[in-house]
Amino acid sequence: MKRLGLRVPVVQAPMAGGPTTPELVAAVSEAGGLGSLGAAYLTPRQIAAAGTAVRARTNRPFAVNLFIPEPLPDVSESEVEAAVAELAPLHVELDLPPPTLPGRVREDFAAQFRVVLDLRPAAFSFVFGRLGAVELAALRERGILAVGTATGVEEARALAADGVDAVVAQGGAGGGHRGGWGHDELADTLSLTRAVVGAVQVPVIAAGGLMDAAGVRAALGAGASLAQCGTVFLRAAEAGTSAPYRTALAAAGPGDTTLTRAFSGRAARGLANRVTAEVERPLPYPFQNALTREMRSAATRAGRPEFLSLWAGEGVHLAWDGTAAEILESLWP
Ligand SMILES: Cc1cc2nc3c(=O)[nH]c(=O)nc-3n(C[C@H](O)[C@H](O)[C@H](O)COP(=O)(O)O)c2cc1C
Repeated sequence: MKRLGLRVPVVQAPMAGGPTTPELVAAVSEAGGLGSLGAAYLTPRQIAAAGTAVRARTNRPFAVNLFIPEPLPDVSESEVEAAVAELAPLHVELDLPPPTLPGRVREDFAAQFRVVLDLRPAAFSFVFGRLGAVELAALRERGILAVGTATGVEEARALAADGVDAVVAQGGAGGGHRGGWGHDELADTLSLTRAVVGAVQVPVIAAGGLMDAAGVRAALGAGASLAQCGTVFLRAAEAGTSAPYRTALAAAGPGDTTLTRAFSGRAARGLANRVTAEVERPLPYPFQNALTREMRSAATRAGRPEFLSLWAGEGVHLAWDGTAAEILESLWP
């Protein structure tokens, strides 16, 4: 809180794919928390524009978040054919031709990262791996705090050894992609927080299922310096969450989420639907993500949540409609 000059010990989680608009990020930061822009699916140019849009709305600190790229896995033609065959009937229901793999399956991380350095947000957070020494030094030179993500104690130790400024401890209840790269403990958020606090010297940011003031207090009580909340901000007025996604979130009850690789090839938590039930042979990440993009876009346009990735954490039933400032206030009254 001190290093970032926050008034509220809450990070609005980065949520790539639309929810974390510049309006949401700026509103949270302006209200004293740390807004985070989920920039992983944005082009370098879009990241620069989003950063400028945040700055136009607030002088307060904010974070930008990217996905660390792994070497692309090998996929055989027959694996691609199987994945396409599974998605083809779903495409028929959306009046789409069968899916095809685009030539470009992810953004260029190095180019994205250069824009982040130029933008100089207060913090840069990342998932899916470790950041190289050169990149960490470049962040440090510019006074940008480096925040890695761990889903287990060993990952947290590795990040701390690399020299990050803080570690997000992501418990199993959290919405969206699992942020680690090694052993995912899928642990209770408070247990994981306690274990990570005991294992590393740097500040720990607890994430996963923190939906209200009691959750945030419990996370700080477990030794976290900040609480990172994603799902509770999905229904914020300023969020870019699409209409069918909002409808599905509002109807969700406890126990309605599941861990799935169906949409992206990487484990993520979201509301169970047709796709999570029917897709059994996804390609590895990021290929499946690229292969399902057309389906997800068409489903959003058509208002068909059964074909959408409805990322949400186990606390989804505790999310509500309000402004970002009202939601932040509820987390730290
Ligand atoms: C819709 C959605 C998208 C997410 N996208 C990202 C992302 O781009 N980068 C990231 O570091 N974490 C992402 N997360 C995970 C959050 O950082 C955080 O770990 C999680 O939201 C915490 O659990 P909660 O959803 O129960 O609050 C996402 C979460 C959700 C719900």
